[in-house]
Amino acid sequence: MDYNIIIKMINEQIKNETDDMANLSNIISIIFNNVEDLNWVGLYFKKDDLVLGPFNGKPACTRLKDKGVCVKAFKENKTIVIEDVNKEQDHIFCDTNSKSEICTVIKNKDKTIGVFDIDSPVVNRFKKDEIEFFEDVTEILNSNIDFSKFI
Ligand code: SME
Repeated sequence: MDYNIIIKMINEQIKNETDDMANLSNIISIIFNNVEDLNWVGLYFKKDDLVLGPFNGKPACTRLKDKGVCVKAFKENKTIVIEDVNKEQDHIFCDTNSKSEICTVIKNKDKTIGVFDIDSPVVNRFKKDEIEFFEDVTEILNSNIDFSKFI
C-alpha cells in the first residue's frame, strides 16, 4: 500500500482516540498489515534493560541487554538499517525468518527512551523510501504519544 495512505491511517487513529496504548497497538497493526514483506513490528522501552512493548509478529526476545541492533540504535541514538542480518555480527535473532531490519529511536520530550524495531523476511527491504516512511512514523509517535507512562 502507498506509504502516504498508511500515514493517513495512522493520523486518523491518533485523531480519533486519546488512549496511548490503544493508539500504539493499532498503529503497529496498521503497519504490520499494510506494509509489504514485514514479519515483526514493535517497540522496546528502556527500563533496566530494553524491555518488549506492544508488537505484531511472532513472540520476541523479552529483554535486550548489551548487544544487538536495538541496543546499538538506542545507545547511538540514531536509526540503524541492516541490509542483511546474516552478515551482521551484532544482530539478535528473535525470528529466524528475519533477513533485514530497521530500528529507529523513540523519544519522550527529546529524551531517548526506547526503539521502534521492524524486521523483514526479505534481504535489503529497507531502502530510501522505507527509511523515510519509518522515520516519519517515528516522528508521529514521538510527538503524539506520551511515552512517560511506559518507562
Ligand atoms: N533483532 C533485534 C532483536 C529484536 S527482534 O528482532 C524483535 C536486535 O538485534 O536487537
